[in-house]
Amino acid sequence: DSEKHAYKARIKQLLKEKEAVLVAHYYTDPEIQALAEETGGCVSDSLEMARFGRDHPAKTLIVAGVKFMGETSKILSPEKTVLMPTLDATCSLDVGCPIDTFSAFCDAHPDHTVVVYANTSAAVKARADWVVTSSIALEIVEHLDSQGKKIIWGPDRHLGSYIAKQTGADMLMWQGECIVHDEFKAKALRQLKEQYPNAAVLVHPESPASVVEMADAVGSTSQLIKAAQSLENDIFIVATDKGIFYKMQQAAPNKTLIEAPTGGNGATCRSCAHCPWMAMNGLKAIEAALINDGSEQHEIFVDESLRERALLPLDRMLDFAK
Ligand code: 13P
Ligand code: SF4
Repeated sequence: DSEKHAYKARIKQLLKEKEAVLVAHYYTDPEIQALAEETGGCVSDSLEMARFGRDHPAKTLIVAGVKFMGETSKILSPEKTVLMPTLDATCSLDVGCPIDTFSAFCDAHPDHTVVVYANTSAAVKARADWVVTSSIALEIVEHLDSQGKKIIWGPDRHLGSYIAKQTGADMLMWQGECIVHDEFKAKALRQLKEQYPNAAVLVHPESPASVVEMADAVGSTSQLIKAAQSLENDIFIVATDKGIFYKMQQAAPNKTLIEAPTGGNGATCRSCAHCPWMAMNGLKAIEAALINDGSEQHEIFVDESLRERALLPLDRMLDFAK
């Protein structure tokens, strides 16, 4: 603990020296989220992280999350230095959607509007007409559908199916998935629900359809935290990364929060409701990023012509969200 205390003190000092601000996702470990809050940074969902970083006057953003979040920040704030605790923190959706094959998929359907999830590389964003995050995907697809647009959706097939079902939009689906949310199991969830009949089920839409169908609230990380505050139930079963419990419990202090099951059906989980890449954002790595700023291990670079193209669909989302 004294070691952690020393790390935190040094990080606070470095943040000041480098005029840097810490921007953290809800899935990072609680001590990282607490540090972001204590130092005037932010803890939020991926949409708000992007906005906060863009609008903050700091010279340097230190993004505790996964690589696409750092890239999004750089696309929006090219004048800022964007650092990450480690550039190895990727996302299975990003990895599962390489630009060449995705681009060929789009080329094969030129009459479709290309909508990509924020969990993608800068190159994939640059190929898209729209970028969306889970907190605004439904509204944007509704809007496009009302204009009669046919849509290519990538890369999360579960989120895509949920949106297609809700909106009735014509969507061609890329077959990607999040290794964390894909693990939630409907059968085991049903059994847990029998044990806690008064519990409400909160589900991130990257989860399989069979799990989403059992939800009392479906939404992005920030929308799920709001649901825990506004629904009257005393118990919530939560199907998303367990990192969210830190802020959710603060927002709803008198409620009991239970993890949705990732096992069951004889299956064992690969990631057990915690993203292995989000978990890479430790105190040591944050300090290293601040000390070695400008090093290729920590700094995000996006090619300028790619950045300009990726900015268009990102700005379209941010304007729509206003
Ligand atoms: P949110 O946009 O809901 O924060 O989700 C990001 C993410 O990576 C979910 O797994
Ligand atoms: Fe990607 Fe899933 Fe990790 Fe979110 S939780 S960063 S979608 S792998």
